[in-house]
Amino acid sequence: MKNIWIIANWKSNKNIAEALDWISKVGPNLPKRENFKVVVCPSFSALSEVKKAITVGNFPLIVGAQDLSPLGAGAYTGEESAELLKELIDLAILGHSERRQNFGETDEMLAKKVAQANAYSIIPVVCVQSSDTPVPEGCKLIAYEPIFAIGTGNPDTPENANQVAGVLKEKHGPAPAGLEVLYGGSVTSENAKAFIFQSNINGLLIGKASLDAEEFIKICKVMELI
Ligand code: PGA
Repeated sequence: MKNIWIIANWKSNKNIAEALDWISKVGPNLPKRENFKVVVCPSFSALSEVKKAITVGNFPLIVGAQDLSPLGAGAYTGEESAELLKELIDLAILGHSERRQNFGETDEMLAKKVAQANAYSIIPVVCVQSSDTPVPEGCKLIAYEPIFAIGTGNPDTPENANQVAGVLKEKHGPAPAGLEVLYGGSVTSENAKAFIFQSNINGLLIGKASLDAEEFIKICKVMELI
């Protein structure tokens, strides 16, 4: 049975109280299934409290970060290294187009971040904007996120996303070698099913619609239909 990943990318949203409110609503309402991997990626400031709440509640939720440092621990003011984050997270979203656009992130930096994540057993989720985006060595999980679809309410078509996911799998690790491809960009509870039922798509990376606990629970319930 294929893994289904549902990753909530909160971006720079939710203070600690709001984050804990979301966890208390979503945590008890998640289907518990071996192949069903639900991940929440809060801001760095809420990571620790979110991790604690999930542990105490024993919820089937994985904690992830939205980025991490290309360098190790040490004299790097302002950076969050994989070595230190490892206590709190099991996964990290890397190379998101918002980081490339707003913070000058390059393919070279991305490759270093992926290496750091892998060195500390943090699963890197590498975002690509098309099937031509370079993918660093050591990636098992890729999110196809076309720029036109991010935060616009204008998702790609499930058929095209499936086709791109197929090309990515051929190029970077054909199934069943293990590469999994997610789709992200204006996913909602209305369109989630159409994406997740595509043969090459292994899950969803969700921004805006993940902020609302009820909407996110609805998306998770869609996954139960598979
Ligand atoms: P969106 O964002 O769901 O708000 O379009 C997705 C993402 O940027 O990961």
